[in-house]
This record gives sequence, structure tokens and C-alpha cells, in this order.
Amino acid sequence: MRVDIITCLPEILKGPLDESIPGRARAKGLLDVHIHDLRDYAEGKHRQVDDYPFGGGAGMVLKPEPIFRCLEDISSEGDPIDEVVFMTPDGEVLDQPMANTLSLQKRLVLLAGHYKGVDQRVRDRLVTKEISIGDYVLSGGELAAMVLVDALARLLPGVLGDSSSALTDSFQDGLLDAPAYTRPAEFRGDAVPEVLTSGNHKRIDTWRDEQRITKTRERRPELLEHRDTQSD
Ligand code: ADE
Repeated sequence: MRVDIITCLPEILKGPLDESIPGRARAKGLLDVHIHDLRDYAEGKHRQVDDYPFGGGAGMVLKPEPIFRCLEDISSEGDPIDEVVFMTPDGEVLDQPMANTLSLQKRLVLLAGHYKGVDQRVRDRLVTKEISIGDYVLSGGELAAMVLVDALARLLPGVLGDSSSALTDSFQDGLLDAPAYTRPAEFRGDAVPEVLTSGNHKRIDTWRDEQRITKTRERRPELLEHRDTQSD
């Protein structure tokens, strides 16, 4: 998968993409990330990427010209672009099914907004999908873009060592994960649940299923309702 990220704060994105799962995906050649500095596409001595909003109001708005130029440049090479995604708190909220669907695409462009937003003509003419990572406002779309890249990277075939582990995550079947333990079997007076050291895989599976349902009922009961309506 190739992901192009358009941003006016490229430095924020560089570190996290070299680490952990996205770093591993890139090292294995399964994920190709290109970061584009919007300022490189801005004109004038000050290479201005934003301007005051028409009609007044607080905050600055990202100008359309640098974004159009950048996207034209990006799309002139490589595979066709499947989606141009604008990261914004008023987008569709990211969940696991959306990440699964997007992970099947070959090429995505992510636009990280800043300041008060982006000129609406960019959203009308260029953007094909608008994604929020939750109902809170970040100071820019860069961290949201990172979250999306991380969620996608770990779904790409061959990225995780154990190919089944992405599919057994919390949310893949609409339930939260069961508690996990590792050695030592007893630590400061707390013992690992007996079933997990029993070697009886049928019992272990049953215990994990029960734990997942109990935890989901306690913490996210709406996920259980959603599951019930889906299986109807
Ligand atoms: N930019 C600012 N806040 C955001 C959010 N919650 N999701 C995606 N992009 C954002």
C-alpha cells in the first residue's frame, strides 16, 4: 500500500512512522509512505499556506492553490489514487470495519488539516472521504493521520508476525479483548487464572469468550447491541 500525506507540519509525522508496526511494514516494503510539505507548493516570498476566512471569524483557513498543486503533482506518478481522505473532526468516525475496508486499497492520500480548516472547494473538488478519529478536536490532522496509518499498517498481509493476530483483536468481531497474562505465574501475590495454565484449550477458549462478553457488557454495551442487530 502507498500512502501520501499532505501536511504543513511534516516533522510531526516523521518519527512515529519509523517505529513499531508502521516502521516494520515500511522496512518490509509492504507500506510506502510519502510525506509532502504543503509549503513546497505555496507561492510568494512567505510561501503562505493559509489565509483569513471570508466573512470573518477566528482562525486561519488552508488556501486551495497549494493543495490542488500538491495533489496534481502526487497523482502524476505511481498507481491511481483510490481515496483522497481529509482528516477532520466532522468526518465519519473511524472504526475497525472502516479500517478493514481501507486496508484493501492500493493507494491513499491523507490530507491533514490545520488552523480553522481548509477551503471548502478542496473538500468539494478533491476529497473523496472525510474521517474523524473520535469526537474531540485535535490541533491538527497529523496525529489523526498517524492513527489511521497505524490502524491500516497492522492489517496489511505479512506485517504482523502471527498472521492471525490482527483478526483476533478487540473489535474485529465487535467484542473487546480478554485479559492477557505472561510469566511469572504468580506475581506479588496475584496468580494467573488457573484455566490459562491448565493446557486445556477448549476451557481456555470458553473462558476467553466469557471474559470478552463480560468486559464488553460492562464497558461498551452498545457494541453488543450492534452485534445483535448485525446477526439478525
Ligand atoms: N483534526 C482535528 N481533530 C480531528 C479528529 N478528531 N479527527 C480527525 N482529524 C482531526
